[in-house]
Amino acid sequence: MTHITHVKGREVLDSRGLPTVEVEVALASGHQGRMMVPSGASTGRFEAHELRDNDTNRYQGRGVLRAVAHVNEEIAAAVTGMNAEDQEGLDRALIDLDGTSNKGRLGANAILGVSFAALHACAAAADKPLFRYLADRYLPQGEQPCLPMPMVNIISGGLHAGKNLDIQDYLVIPVGAKTFPQALEMISAVYWSTRRILQDQGHIASLVADEGGFGPSLATNEAPLEILCTAIEATGMQPGQDMAIALDIAASHFFNASTGYYDLHLDTKRLTTEEMITYLEDWVTRFPIISIEDGLDEEDWFGWQQLTRRIGSRTQLVGDDLFTTNSQRIQRGIEQKAGNAVLIKMNQIGTVTETVDAVLLAKKAGFKTIISARSGETEDATLSDLAVGLNGGQIKIGSLARSSRLAKYNQLLRINEDLHASSLSSWMSK
Ligand code: PGA
Ligand code: ZN
Repeated sequence: MTHITHVKGREVLDSRGLPTVEVEVALASGHQGRMMVPSGASTGRFEAHELRDNDTNRYQGRGVLRAVAHVNEEIAAAVTGMNAEDQEGLDRALIDLDGTSNKGRLGANAILGVSFAALHACAAAADKPLFRYLADRYLPQGEQPCLPMPMVNIISGGLHAGKNLDIQDYLVIPVGAKTFPQALEMISAVYWSTRRILQDQGHIASLVADEGGFGPSLATNEAPLEILCTAIEATGMQPGQDMAIALDIAASHFFNASTGYYDLHLDTKRLTTEEMITYLEDWVTRFPIISIEDGLDEEDWFGWQQLTRRIGSRTQLVGDDLFTTNSQRIQRGIEQKAGNAVLIKMNQIGTVTETVDAVLLAKKAGFKTIISARSGETEDATLSDLAVGLNGGQIKIGSLARSSRLAKYNQLLRINEDLHASSLSSWMSK
């Protein structure tokens, strides 16, 4: 009864008003699943390939009609009749049908849509919420699904906010929160407090960046750290105790491979890898920063090892562009002690099975995981179920603005109720 009878793809729009792929899969039992595919802007070089039409007459060349046609024709023909419950078999068939190492022929956006729509259909057929279906299927014995600790963007720079700041994300983590609803309440207080400070300082908080954070033009890359500390204190919370700071440096995007320097334009600084590490170490020492993502370039493995040796015992060092949710690259990080946490983005790798494998591999090695959205999102909230069902520990969705972000936070509130959850993931002590 879980055999696939129909596969239907279509072009829909994402939070940037640009096309993305939506897929529906129907089973012989009559159950259906649907998935809308997210899309990055600050993409890593080693990500699976997102197929775009490159037809400049439509959507600046960013249409996805070719990927949609692959879903409706080649993929539909190949997977119709397959048992969707055999997710590994289905994903293997999709990978083999594509035939490339980066899903470049059919498109990772086409493949991801089919893989996750089939997963949704199976959860419906099993009459389980998606997070429960995932937990029953993939969680190691004895592990319970848990609400993740949110890591929330408040101030944005880099490619998500017109490059006014070199650093891409200034985020907060409500480390003092006991429950998920309490975590959201604390973050909302800091979000609004930051808004008031930016207004008082004359930065009309008009630019809302791609992930819903504020995108002010500030004088230095350090200024947002001071603003966040002030904003946290203004709510009566203690920086570090109740609310800590996290950064996504996205260093690959200001690393100049031809000169070997990190160019921090706003600070008029050109830093070597060694100097960049010292720059980050200084920040960790002076501010309540507990997590740094992509502190160095995606190919600077040696630098990552040094960074991890220097501040890895007190700081979560997250590989996003470094690992691109790719088990081979994660394995290399584990072996070389480069980083100690993995950002998990399903469309960086392209199937359910490979996403789950990346999470399980990281967790088994003692690396933390953060289940993450992309800067281009939709109302699809699969991400929230994935974070709970795989017990990802942490989630990164974006700010408390824009419905594409809120859809996921609100889904977590529903799951919280469903689970009768009394506490957040104990991600810090794991
Ligand atoms: P992206 O950025 O979705 O634009 O790649 C998110 C991130 O760098 O974490
Ligand atoms: Zn990132």
